[in-house]
Amino acid sequence: MPGGTVPGEPAPGEPAPGGLAAGRAVASVAGGDVGVLASGTGSILEALIDARVPIAVVLVDRPCRAEDVAAGAGLAAVRVERRSYGPDFGREAYTCEVVATLRRHGVRLVAMAGFGTILGRAMFDAFPGAVLNTHPSLLPEFRGWHAVQAALAAGVAVTGCTVHIATEEVDEGPILAQEEVPVRPGDTVEVLHERIKEVERRLYPRTVLEVLARRAAVDLDGPGAPAATPPR
Ligand code: GRF
Repeated sequence: MPGGTVPGEPAPGEPAPGGLAAGRAVASVAGGDVGVLASGTGSILEALIDARVPIAVVLVDRPCRAEDVAAGAGLAAVRVERRSYGPDFGREAYTCEVVATLRRHGVRLVAMAGFGTILGRAMFDAFPGAVLNTHPSLLPEFRGWHAVQAALAAGVAVTGCTVHIATEEVDEGPILAQEEVPVRPGDTVEVLHERIKEVERRLYPRTVLEVLARRAAVDLDGPGAPAATPPR
């Protein structure tokens, strides 16, 4: 994958989507094995925290409010800063740094929550089938960072959000959950995005918790699991 900003990412300096007020104190959900990746206001992160998703670390690629949200919840927050948005961006090297950081924190499931850097193959090799994403459109419609703008420009009456397993192909991968959101007359990108995020803040935590429960059940049934009937 080439370096630099690609269509699925925000342009350098592009403001993050709007969100809630920073610095809220919430009960800590530290100590789990979910790594949350964020770049923006962190309102999806807040919803994951509120739903008691067990979070090991919050990783951000730039200074952003999500760091304050993590700190307010007593979570480890690590900034793996993206230093270049130009053609010299070393996407693979950056990805390896992200993977190493997540591994250091014992992450087993990754939840992307508005992360503005597209990660390279090393991420999906390190966490096969275990990188989740929430996207503000009904995929496969309106892939990329400007999904809400694209839906408005297309004049659709209904858009929505999608939770899916992320793959190296941006905004592709098996869909786990989707929900429709109406577009209303006079909607701006901000207003519509916030209406979509209200749904994402409910749908994403619920889906992440379901995935965790399924994975725990598989672990219990796996080769290392205790036998149901002890051998004689
Ligand atoms: C969400 O709409 C998510 O789908 C998209 O980025 C937004 C993140 O919102 N990828 P926030 O920064 O958590 O408020």
